Order: sequence, then structure tokens, then C-alpha cells
Amino acid sequence: MKILIVGSGGREHALAWKAAQSPLASEVLVAPGNAGTAREPRIRNIPVEATDIDGLIAVAQDLRVDLTIVGPEAPLVAGIVDRFAKLGLACLGPTAAAARLEGSKSFAKEFLARHRIPTARHETFTDVAAAARYLKDHPGAHVVKADGLASGKGVVVAEEEKTALEAATSMLNGEFGDAGRRIVIEERLIGVEASFIVLADGLDYVAFPTSEDHKRRDDGDRGPNTGGMGAFSPASAVDAPLEAVIRAHIIEPTLRGLKDDGHHYRGFLYAGLMLTADGPKVLEFNCRFGDPETQPIMMRLRSDLVALTHAAATGQLGKVALEIDPRPALCVVLAAPGYPAAPRTGDPIGGLDATDPECRVFHAGTRDKDGQVVSSGGRVLGITSLGATLEEAREHVYRRLQGITLDGALYRRDIGRRPYGVRP
Ligand code: AMP
Ligand code: GLY
Repeated sequence: MKILIVGSGGREHALAWKAAQSPLASEVLVAPGNAGTAREPRIRNIPVEATDIDGLIAVAQDLRVDLTIVGPEAPLVAGIVDRFAKLGLACLGPTAAAARLEGSKSFAKEFLARHRIPTARHETFTDVAAAARYLKDHPGAHVVKADGLASGKGVVVAEEEKTALEAATSMLNGEFGDAGRRIVIEERLIGVEASFIVLADGLDYVAFPTSEDHKRRDDGDRGPNTGGMGAFSPASAVDAPLEAVIRAHIIEPTLRGLKDDGHHYRGFLYAGLMLTADGPKVLEFNCRFGDPETQPIMMRLRSDLVALTHAAATGQLGKVALEIDPRPALCVVLAAPGYPAAPRTGDPIGGLDATDPECRVFHAGTRDKDGQVVSSGGRVLGITSLGATLEEAREHVYRRLQGITLDGALYRRDIGRRPYGVRP
């Protein structure tokens, strides 16, 4: 089978690397890919952007692609799956209507409330005066969110009314363009976060191992929210009984709710959870795999990714069981200076050729410039390793990281080092 992976980040490098190991894959194409996917055996980059749906259709038709797997949310929200389906092309992911679970936070909150799935209390606003009144009447910490897609950056966790109002004002005044013309203000939840990602086909689903992201840029969970600065799997605070609760109270009601609302949800579904004293609650849905969660999860996945995604795309997911490496895996993201607000790009990256059998260096924002790998985005690399223990995986990753050079690079020193496993 010929597989096309859409996207250019660390997630797509990890998905392509895993797909290329499948005996079912004759070739793996990545559009547009990065300098890392360009260097992998059995993987070929195709210079078409992830949002160029016409271009991707032409690639799928001309190169006779058997299955397209979409990495990022933007093409899903823009309807890539609907467009491919009309032409009889297999593309794994939800339709545009179902992808609104990620594409609109107010849509997701309304869906959660209507189907009685646990989440933070919220209100939706389109004007500053109403938001200001609400914040005055409801003292305490709030989270202010741009309604539309903002690459994980349109969320401000505010301890005080003043910070919340500033965030609401700047979003409503166009900080994120149309994505912030509507905002959601919700109560701040206290607890430990976990990512729960499944591959679904209607009501059938298989759950990937749990994982834990690090959204804030700086050590100690400080600094601005980012797309994610590192992740490990399994999540520290999800044991088997809690996983059963998450399946029964969150994942299954979500798939049933989607079905009841007339959607056949096919593709990856990512529930970002807060494990609170009142049980797990949904912070957000994503209609795709997580980045950087994909990197440690793909290192742990022993099952054939092509067989798995093909089963989901052809109505055979009910017959699949996942095989997972019991060892934990951890990924640390190396980001460009200035990330997330204004990352500097074009800097040479050194030390990539060293081989370390324990570690994989997944590329994200990288490209080739005259034979040299240079930075081309905010998150540049995701150094990922398995280990007998989480601590061992951490040691491998940080040791490998010392050998990589990128002027002014940012990375967190404390991935996998929170006071883990303590849930309220
Ligand atoms: P979201 O994109 O909605 O997942 O938000 C990004 C990050 O903001 C989450 O991973 C949390 O760290 C934080 N966050 C979002 N909503 C809440 C909430 N209601 N309470 C506390 N933190 C939140
Ligand atoms: N790491 C969070 C996300 O992929 O949305």
C-alpha cells in the first residue's frame, strides 16, 4: 500500500517513521514533510502544503495513494476528508462537521454539556462588555479561550480578573484574527492533566496508551502556553481503574453523542483531560493525534500502524487489538529562540548524525538548505527515547540532547520531573 501522511511536524515524522516499518507499506509519502522525513529510508517528501487540499488530491490521484493519514487539524477542519471521499479516495480523519469538536471550542463545550460529559463550567462571549461583566460577577481564576484554531496558543489561564479581562479583550479585538472573535471563558480546573487518544470508527475504537504533555514553555510549568514542550507515556496518574472511568464516562459517551448527532466519527480523537478531585473532566478535544504525544506513543506502539489505520478506514477496527511496549517513553522538544510568540528560523542545526540506538530524533520545524539542516519553525526537534523506567528514558533523551547544537535553543529541563502521580 502507498501511504500519504499530511503535515510537517514531529507528529508526522513519528507517524511516517512508524508507517514505513510496516510490511504492508510499499512507500510512505509525506506532504510536505521536513528535513527529518527526507532522510528516512522508504519515505519521500512531496512539496505540497498540508492546507493545499487540491494539491493533496492531485498527489493522491497521480501517485495512486491507497490511504491518506492527516496529521494536523487545519485540513480536517477545512474538510479534506469530505473532499477526498467525494472522489473515492481513502483519507483517515473526521469530516469537517465532526472536526468542529476541535475547530470551535464553543461547539465542543455545547456538545459536552448536551451529552452530559464532564467538563469545566463555561460561558461564550462575542463582546468585551459582557465578558467584563461576567468576570466581575464571578470572582476567582478563569481560563479564557479563543473559539477557533490558534495552534494551542489561544488559551490564557488567569488567576485574576485583570489578566482574564486583558486576554478576553485582546482576543475579541483580533489578536488571533477571526479565531478569537468569539471566546469561551471557563472555570479553572485544578488537577493533573493527561492525554487520552483513541482511533475510532463510529462506536468502535482502540485506545492508545495514555500520555502527558507539558504545555507551558518554561520549567516548573511557567511561561506561555505552547503546542507542547515534551511528553511521556504512560501518563503518571492514570491507573487501570481510572482508565476504565475515562472510557466509560468520556470516550464512549463522546462517540455515542457524535453518532446521535448524525456524525460517523472516523479517525483519531484526542481528549485532553484534567484529573480533578471530582473525576476526569474534558479540557479540550482534538480531532487528530497529539504533538508531541505521538512521538513517545509511536515508540511504544508494537502493532503495525498501517494495518491499524487501514482497519479503521475500512470498517474493521472492531477486530483489532493493540500491542504496546510496556516500557515508558519520553520526548523533549527543542524549540527555536523566541518560541512561541516569534520563533527565529534559518539557524543551522548540528549533531544530528550521531547515532544512539536508544534515541530517535524526530524533526519538526527543519528544512534543508544547501545540504545543511536549518530551523524552519517554532518547535524544531523532538528527542525521544524508550527506557526501562521513565527516569532511564529521561537520561537517554537529555544525554542525546547535549550533542545537538542550535543557537539560542529553548528546551525544558524538567520533562518527566513534576511531582508525578499525585492527583487531588
Ligand atoms: P486547551 O487548548 O483547551 O486544552 O487548553 C490548553 C491548556 O490550557 C490545557 O492543556 C491546560 O493546561 C490549560 N487549560 C485549559 N482549560 C483549562 C481549565 N478549565 N482549567 C485549567 N487549565 C486549563
Ligand atoms: N500536545 C497537544 C496537542 O497536540 O494538541
